[in-house]
Amino acid sequence: MTTVVDSNVIHVMKQRTSVRKYQTGIEIPQDTLNQIIDTAITAPSAWNLQHWKFVTIQNQDNKSRILPIAFNQQQVVDASAVVIVLGDTKANENAENVYGETVRAGFMAEEVKNAMVSDINSYYKNTEHAGIHDAIRNASFAAMQLMLAAKAHGIDSGPMGGYDAEALRKELNIPDRYIPVLMLTLGYAEQPAHQTSRFSVDQVVIRERF
Ligand SMILES: Cc1cc2nc3c(=O)[nH]c(=O)nc-3n(C[C@H](O)[C@H](O)[C@H](O)COP(=O)(O)O)c2cc1C
Repeated sequence: MTTVVDSNVIHVMKQRTSVRKYQTGIEIPQDTLNQIIDTAITAPSAWNLQHWKFVTIQNQDNKSRILPIAFNQQQVVDASAVVIVLGDTKANENAENVYGETVRAGFMAEEVKNAMVSDINSYYKNTEHAGIHDAIRNASFAAMQLMLAAKAHGIDSGPMGGYDAEALRKELNIPDRYIPVLMLTLGYAEQPAHQTSRFSVDQVVIRERF
């Protein structure tokens, strides 16, 4: 069997680094940002519930208001855009829409849809912390895809967990249903990211079991 490796994908993954010094005053065209998000939302999600929303901030005054909330990390104002990736803690409420569409398209029988929706709702009702855990787990995939898609468009990024989530909620009027999972800066590097290293494959792989 021959193995075909898509070297473009590997290249983009290896080129992505967390940029903190951006060229200022450069806008990302709206169409490019839309294309990046359109790629990001091809991410997988449990039951295809698509537990994500994105608050995009490109206005300079609005970025400045995020600065103290992000503990004065300067990249927030220098970057062309800040994207707040939100996780949906009530993604079970999307099930009817997601599967209704599948039924209308003729890909699923109505009874199968009803059984699926019922399973999903029971999981959310009966599993401790399901809403919050699934929100974080699933929205994180979209966040990673967003950074890779940006890099494929020649746009650098930086993931950030360093912010006051409650202050961010107030500033952006984020409804209780959603939790901020990650803040992303997007833009054009002024300086390359710090060099980082990784543990080796042998250090991170446990073969078969601990
Ligand atoms: C969940 C998460 C939170 C992070 N928070 C911050 C942050 O608040 N500020 C920052 O400068 N970098 C932050 N980073 C970036 C990491 O420091 C960076 O990914 C790591 O050092 C590896 O470097 P690389 O992404 O350039 O390969 C965060 C990364 C992740 C995944």
